[in-house]
Amino acid sequence: MSTFQTIKGTFDILPDPAMSSSAFAYGTAAWQHVEATLRDVLARFNFSEVRTPILEPTELIARGIGQLTDIVSKEMFAFTRGDTNYVMRPEITAPVMRAYLQHHLDQRGGVQKLYYIGPCFRAEEPQKGRYRQFHQFGVEVIGSDDARADAETIAVMMAVYKAFGLTNTTLRLNTLGDAESRPRYKAALQAYFEPYRQDLSETSRTRLDTNPLRILDTKDERERTLLADAPHLIDFVDAESRAHYEEVKQLLNDLGLVFVEDPFLVRGLDYYSRTAFELESPDLGAQSALGGGGRYDLLSVEVGSKKPVPAVGFASGMERLFLALEANEVTLPGTPSPDVFLVALGDRARRRVFRMAQELRDAGFKVALDLRGRSMKAQMREANRQNAPFTIIVGDNELEQAQAPVKNMETGEQTEVAFADLRNYLRDHVT
Ligand code: HAM
Repeated sequence: MSTFQTIKGTFDILPDPAMSSSAFAYGTAAWQHVEATLRDVLARFNFSEVRTPILEPTELIARGIGQLTDIVSKEMFAFTRGDTNYVMRPEITAPVMRAYLQHHLDQRGGVQKLYYIGPCFRAEEPQKGRYRQFHQFGVEVIGSDDARADAETIAVMMAVYKAFGLTNTTLRLNTLGDAESRPRYKAALQAYFEPYRQDLSETSRTRLDTNPLRILDTKDERERTLLADAPHLIDFVDAESRAHYEEVKQLLNDLGLVFVEDPFLVRGLDYYSRTAFELESPDLGAQSALGGGGRYDLLSVEVGSKKPVPAVGFASGMERLFLALEANEVTLPGTPSPDVFLVALGDRARRRVFRMAQELRDAGFKVALDLRGRSMKAQMREANRQNAPFTIIVGDNELEQAQAPVKNMETGEQTEVAFADLRNYLRDHVT
């Protein structure tokens, strides 16, 4: 029997990405660096982290995102156990709204500004930038219908990419209007496409009956030409939402954030109203969306709240951020190395070195040593492989003298240092 492999569309994150046999391979250190940068930007915008479970009630997701969406109708990893229906979260907005309502976070007062970083699951056909287990980072701003909440959400998303030096992106913006705008637009789209029914692909024909807004996302060239004369959503949007949209655009202009208006941007989740946006990168190929989001003032009611709670947020794919960084030749930290590698010759030295490692670690140094009783040559090779900048070589002589040569692995230079002075020496030399 061959050994087990990761399930299609999932991958391991390894200390040494060069060892990975997966198509998507970035090392743990790179992930940690990206996460630290994200947290830094999010903290500057005064967001607090929230962590919700991977497993959520299926009904929360189905009602929140919408039964007719691709996610709910065909991409959920869901199962039933006893009398509970579980879903592995395909996104984190509905879960965060659930947490907000469950714990009455409104009682903290003010607007809740929450962020998250974590895995999501969608049973999509894997390809570059599209996986079955992927990671999202995102924010949810809950409790304000002010256009500034929308603009700040977009601003923090843009600030994240800027922090990584990624500025070659396109921000697309639209408004979906209120609860009545969408059904009006849906009807208009159905009326527009109906005469072309026979020209549509099979998928679009089904969508024409169920969810005609999805036709707007078509990649089919023929269908795209049909879009040229299709009705625009903005013409079905209520006056208040239009005014809100104008304000959002004004605020983005004030911040110097460049956007393009896309009359066909509707997003693939049903909970949106008013502002919708997406950030694209030309470097990602078919899966070009780095992130997206919008306002979702009606979600709270969909998932059981008596009164509507206005909210806006975005989420981005971590993997797509990595792919964009790579395409832009941004260097990420590689495998971390120890500060020093301890080399021992003989049994007595091995015991002393084992204790020395502990002493130096207590003093705050990153210390590596051999755990297999190997030869000196093999230990030096291992020190090289691990990129240790210094080695300390201890044998019987060194034990007697209570001092050992510290070797600078780059220059080859060796300095005799008393055991008692090792900490100070390393403190002065390790960068
Ligand atoms: P979404 O557009 O479905 O929105 O996903 C957000 C981002 O997650 C996408 O732009 C993409 O970068 C990434 N993503 C989605 N699916 C995959 C996949 N299969 N593989 C890799 N990356 C993927 C949402 O999830 C909303 N919750 C966003 C939001 C937050 N709206 C309001 N607040």
